[in-house]
Formats: sequence, structure tokens, C-alpha cells
Amino acid sequence: MALGFTGMTVAQAEAVCEAMSALKGATMKAGDVAAAALFLASDEAAFVSGHNLVVDGATTALGPKPPGVAIITGAASGIGEAAARLFAEHGARVVIADIQDELGAAVAASIGADRCKYYRCDVRDEQQVSDLVDFTVATFGRLDVMYSNAGIICRGSLLQMNLEDFDNVVAVNTRGCVAAVKHAGRAMAAAGTRGSIICTASVAATVGGMGLHAYTVSKHAVLGLVRSAAGELGHLGIRVNCVSPAGWRRR
Ligand SMILES: NC(=O)c1ccc[n+]([C@@H]2O[C@H](COP(=O)([O-])OP(=O)(O)OC[C@H]3O[C@@H](n4cnc5c(N)ncnc54)[C@H](O)[C@@H]3O)[C@@H](O)[C@H]2O)c1
Repeated sequence: MALGFTGMTVAQAEAVCEAMSALKGATMKAGDVAAAALFLASDEAAFVSGHNLVVDGATTALGPKPPGVAIITGAASGIGEAAARLFAEHGARVVIADIQDELGAAVAASIGADRCKYYRCDVRDEQQVSDLVDFTVATFGRLDVMYSNAGIICRGSLLQMNLEDFDNVVAVNTRGCVAAVKHAGRAMAAAGTRGSIICTASVAATVGGMGLHAYTVSKHAVLGLVRSAAGELGHLGIRVNCVSPAGWRRR
């Protein structure tokens, strides 16, 4: 996912993010977000639910207990891919869900067919998310972690905004998370699993003004979803949190 704020080229926006990271003394990488998600998925985070863990390069969480069976959406590339690899390294069996079939299947194959599968799932379609959860339980016998990470970005002036683009961003970034929380929560509740649900939000879940209007709205809503869902699912022992990456430079 390339960054880009209104009035700046992508390269300029990435340079700003890098400069901000340098000021903090650390530059965020996809692996930092993956490590934060792994921490939230583990028993070490047993008391953490309804929270937003901001990841800006200073994350040091490493080595928690293997998180069993995990679904990671948007795991054909970027942060999701890094999380799939890290979760598998820590002993998890992982289902990669994405719409980039070739890339997703290649990542799964490189992790190993015994512990990682690719499943095509467009998170905008609730039935596909429900089928993804069923596939995971049928394949690996249970579901312990749902990491709802798939996301897209949209730039441009609010004054020129095409509301169909707005709907699409919300459909992926927000509605996709709602479907993931709903169907993972149902499967965990039915099995009595004290699971962990994690969503990727963003620093744009708590600040605005970057010109990423639809994206900012969609990520603020993810934070509301996490806080709201944690309340309902907590009594079932299911924790719901989000990780909020700062911008990162991919090259
Ligand atoms: N890169 C950053 O600087 C940054 C900062 C803050 C938040 N985030 C968030 O992190 C998450 C991962 O982003 P990334 O930077 O790794 O980008 P990325 O583009 O590498 O990964 C996003 C993945 O989501 C998948 N995806 C897109 N639409 C989908 C759909 N409808 N159904 C299923 N999968 C779909 C893509 O195919 C891709 O594999 C996103 O939610 C993004 O908003 C990223």
C-alpha cells in the first residue's frame, strides 16, 4: 500500500513518514506490526481487549506462545504477509485470505502446505468471510485468531470525492472487519474458544488532516468496532483489539 497525502507525491509522503520515524529514533517496518498482532493473539495479552496498539517502530514484542489456528486477511502482501510468516514461525497454522490469488498461494506455499493454506476471500462479501471461517475450521479443526488486516487506501480532495470510491473503501476497511469479527466471533463462541480478534486500523484511526478522507473515516470506524465488539464478546473470553501502524516505506 503506497502512502500519499493531498498535495504531495507518494515519495514525498513516504519521506515525511520516514523523517517522523527518525525523530522518534525508530522506523516502523511491516514486521513490527506483525509482532504486535502476534502479541495481541497470545496469552501474554490475556488482559488486553478493546485497545488500540499504536505501532510506530518501537515495538519489541517477541516470542509469545504460539497462537494455534489463525486467519489473516490481506496476507498476500505487506503487513499481512509478514504476520503470516511470523505466526507460522511461532507454530501457528495459518489461512491466508486475499484476492491476489497467485501471490497469496505463493506465500502459503513458501510457508509450507502443512501449516499454511491460501483461501480466496473478498472481505466485502459477507458470505465469502463466513465461508473462509468454515474452511479454516474444516481444514485445521478450530479457529483461535482472526487477524482482519485487508485494507485499501484512497486519496484526493473531499470536494472532488466520488462517493462510490468512499463506499468501496468503507466496504473493505470497515465492513470487512465487521464481517470478520462477526463470523470469527460466532465460530469461537460456538466452540467455546477463548480467542483473539485483531483488526489493522491505522494512525488515521485517531488523527485526521492527512487528506485521506475515506480512509480516515473507515479506520476511525474500525476503532469504534473494536471497542464495541470487545464489550459484547468479553464475557465469552474473546478479546478484540486493533493495531495501528504508522506509515512505512516499502522500498
Ligand atoms: N502501509 C502503511 O503505511 C499502513 C499504515 C497504516 C495502516 N495500514 C493498514 O495496514 C493494512 C495492510 O496494509 P499494507 O500496507 O500491508 O498494504 P498491502 O496493499 O501490501 O496489503 C493489503 C492487502 O489487502 C488485500 N486486499 C485488498 N482488498 C481486499 C479485499 N476486498 N478482500 C481481501 N483482501 C483484500 C490486498 O490484496 C493486499 O494483499 C491495511 O489495513 C492498511 O490500511 C498500512
